[in-house]
Amino acid sequence: MKFDFDTTLDHKNNGSYRWGMSDMPNDVIGMGTADLDFNCAPCIREALIPIAQENCYNYRQRPDEYYKAISDWYSRNYGLTVKKEWLSSVPSTIGAIRIALGVYAKPGDTVIVQTPLFSPIDWAINGADCKLIANPLTPIKGHYEIDFNDFEAKIKKYHPSIYLMVNPHNPTGRVFNQMELEHLVEICADNGVTIISDEVHGMIIYDQHKFIPILAVNDKAQEISVQIVSLSKGYNVMSLPHAIITIANPDMQKAWMRQIQAYSFGYATNSFSIAAVTSILKGEADEWMHELNAYLFNNLEETLDYIKEQRLPLIPYRPEGSYLLWIDCHEAGIGTEELAQFFMEKAHILLDDGEENFGSEGKGFIRINFAVTNKILKEALGRIKKAFEEL
Ligand SMILES: Cc1ncc(COP(=O)(O)O)c(C=O)c1O
Repeated sequence: MKFDFDTTLDHKNNGSYRWGMSDMPNDVIGMGTADLDFNCAPCIREALIPIAQENCYNYRQRPDEYYKAISDWYSRNYGLTVKKEWLSSVPSTIGAIRIALGVYAKPGDTVIVQTPLFSPIDWAINGADCKLIANPLTPIKGHYEIDFNDFEAKIKKYHPSIYLMVNPHNPTGRVFNQMELEHLVEICADNGVTIISDEVHGMIIYDQHKFIPILAVNDKAQEISVQIVSLSKGYNVMSLPHAIITIANPDMQKAWMRQIQAYSFGYATNSFSIAAVTSILKGEADEWMHELNAYLFNNLEETLDYIKEQRLPLIPYRPEGSYLLWIDCHEAGIGTEELAQFFMEKAHILLDDGEENFGSEGKGFIRINFAVTNKILKEALGRIKKAFEEL
């Protein structure tokens, strides 16, 4: 490998949420919060240093090069043609979702989502004074499928204004395929439902799976959808806040721009974010991303093999994308109430409890972030095995 994913900073001392909570044991392994432990692609530092050297942070425009980089990236990776006038940005993905709910739904409206659901999305729906309608994903043969009958029936019954899609799906790791996406789009288009698509996990994709942005699905999708992406998850740039919003329908774009101007997000933007996003999307980090996917895939395979070979009482759901592994612990003999506590106390591993972070359908599940060095992954797996031996 050209890039070194085996050497990382000590995140215990840099304010990391995942590694540095003050009440944790010294030898804790952070496998919760969805960020990467790895150093970023070198082009990001190269893009940021000249800005820091200038030491001047005035109101700045988004240069043409930035828009071109985004369009080229969508075209190169997904065969999607994006026009400059479709594009805008706000500081965060969840913020974009919350604003979009304010634009395309009114207080009291319903919003349909697939569950289990990443809780900040629930908070955004709540904050918009909308009501969540759950279309639970169905576990079939170790992976989750969309229940289209339930989706359509609930749309007909509750008349949601919005379908809030998370694709790739957090926490299940599903990457919806073209057929599934067309079906979802068709139901929404037929019933006057706007799609808000959170695509933040779209850069980490395994095996033969293919991530398809919502606007690349078909013309119908372009008429009714808001496409939201951020490089935060894939390129580990959470501290360079920037979500890219793409809306092809001119009326929807007009309504959206009116609101983001109201927040003053349509004007100047963070010059560091613009520089990093431009360099990444121009292709300067493509090779790094390719190697990152391979490194993560190896970590994933090793984890799945280990669980199987060591006969750990865990049922993992193999993710098709993202660096998050969703694990059913119902047969582990540790109850469903104190899962995170068990892993913290017995293995000194901090991970996400399914129910606490993803709602009632997450009860009895944990989610682990395997974007750690392979050495740390091995240590974590060994500790989990020992914890079960001592149970
Ligand atoms: C599905 C999903 N959307 C959004 C976010 C957060 O994105 P941002 O930090 O850009 O708001 C996360 C973070 O884990 C996520 O999993």
